[in-house]
Amino acid sequence: MSKAKIAVIGAGLMGHGIAQVFALAGHEVTVSDTVMKNLDTLATRIAANLRDLGEDESAIARVLPCVDVAEAVHGVDYVVEAVFEDLALKQKLFAEIEAHVRPDTILASNTSVIPITDIMRGLKHRERALGTHWWNPPFLVPLVEVIETQWTGADAIAFTMKLHADVGKTPAHVKKDVPGFIGNRLQHALWREAVSLVENGICDAETVDAVIKAAFGRRLAVLGPLENADMVGTDLTLAIHKTVLPAIDSRPGPSPYLERLVAEGKLGFKSGDGFRKWTPAQQRELRAKVLRHLKKAREADAT
Ligand SMILES: NC(=O)c1ccc[n+]([C@@H]2O[C@H](COP(=O)([O-])OP(=O)(O)OC[C@H]3O[C@@H](n4cnc5c(N)ncnc54)[C@H](O)[C@@H]3O)[C@@H](O)[C@H]2O)c1
Repeated sequence: MSKAKIAVIGAGLMGHGIAQVFALAGHEVTVSDTVMKNLDTLATRIAANLRDLGEDESAIARVLPCVDVAEAVHGVDYVVEAVFEDLALKQKLFAEIEAHVRPDTILASNTSVIPITDIMRGLKHRERALGTHWWNPPFLVPLVEVIETQWTGADAIAFTMKLHADVGKTPAHVKKDVPGFIGNRLQHALWREAVSLVENGICDAETVDAVIKAAFGRRLAVLGPLENADMVGTDLTLAIHKTVLPAIDSRPGPSPYLERLVAEGKLGFKSGDGFRKWTPAQQRELRAKVLRHLKKAREADAT
């Protein structure tokens, strides 16, 4: 793909990382934010990431901060929005963006959970609108879910899938705009059962995490569940499901155990107590461990 002109709206945690990925791959990227400090610190934040990853810092020259959204999106081929998770804000922003771009400029939202359909329903040209769900940190986690709505055109999907594949991401086409897309549906199906095991006194929270990390978690990065099902046999998978599925949690809402933790102010790292207690040092160590792991996986991908 020839180099595109890209605008990233929102220079926060996700926006600056998304801008970094596109700039490193050679695209010209404008970045807009309503908070001046976030634009002022954009280059230093990206430079620090690139240094840490051993990547070419000259990529920063392709990132242009813009105070004005209209200026940021002028003449671009592709816009990705990464502002606060607020439906009304995103709707208003896309209406403003649409007034300043070509009819064929592709418009993407990086929302975590708001339906793309709701964000884009007011647009004049809805065939060029879609979702791109990046994972944090955007420059270390490969997946970008590309979400199609009932209005999205095949050209917009094809362009976006190729754009992300060409910058080294792993795009996944989500053919229906369903809550949680693909990744969070899978992730939270597991979390629901994890909470339920603790709630029902089968084991404590540390044991749940230890079991996952010491068993199938080890294989997950290279062996997906459906590959695994084929490996052991669909007949064996069926037999297991007949016994296990009736026993696992299938309640439609959040667990009362989780509701109670929140009501009691046990918010996890934020309060030092959640499913288990966390000292500041333990929190720092776990965050650092995750980053080390993701960096190692990225290095392994590159070899
Ligand atoms: N943090 C994550 O792990 C994660 C993962 C996937 C998706 N997301 C989604 O990405 C989006 C951004 O999340 P984040 O974590 O980067 O948030 P953040 O709070 O770090 O950044 C949001 C940025 O948007 C800016 N902003 C607000 N209104 C604006 C406007 N009108 N125009 C321009 N800029 C504006 C803010 O000043 C801020 O810098 C959200 O929709 C979030 O749900 C987050």
